[in-house]
Amino acid sequence: MTQDMTAAGEARALSPYERFGHEAGVRAIVERFYDLMEHEPMYAELRAMHDVDLSPMRSSLTGFLTAWLGGPRTWFEARPSVCIMSMHRTMSISPESAGQWVHAMSRAMAEGEIEPRLGAQLQDAFLRMATAMTNVPRDEN
Ligand code: HEM
Repeated sequence: MTQDMTAAGEARALSPYERFGHEAGVRAIVERFYDLMEHEPMYAELRAMHDVDLSPMRSSLTGFLTAWLGGPRTWFEARPSVCIMSMHRTMSISPESAGQWVHAMSRAMAEGEIEPRLGAQLQDAFLRMATAMTNVPRDEN
């Protein structure tokens, strides 16, 4: 479902947040994303960049995506001057770890049965963000 009716009986396009299933839907994708990162060896490099305890990240990414997808803006209101791109500039992000992020998120969205067209649009947006966050060369080993 990509639209809803307003009280006046007009069609209204649903936001990506609504199409995700509101906060519970966003949270489910984020939980799956970190579960994959935590348990699958193919995401080991990405996992190693994160703190041992992923719970604060599970909450923070849920809050960020909730706002970014068009839902309540609480995450941004609590961090008035934060820019997600600048925040990642303090980290060393290789093409491999960026690729792992996008891969795990795409899998989480597919397994969560996000509408395929929305999933593809978001995958594209995440790929562009992750590519722009990449700031160290490809691993040599
Ligand atoms: C390019 C690949 C990426 C890598 C390697 C990466 C890595 C990280 C790391 C290491 C942290 C800090 C974790 C910790 O303190 O334990 C973090 C935090 C975070 N990242 Fe990323 N990230 C990537 C892409 C993204 C993208 C594309 C988004 C948004 C769509 C995002 C959203 C966030 C958020 C919301 C936080 C939590 C910020 C906070 O509450 O302090 N990241 N990321």
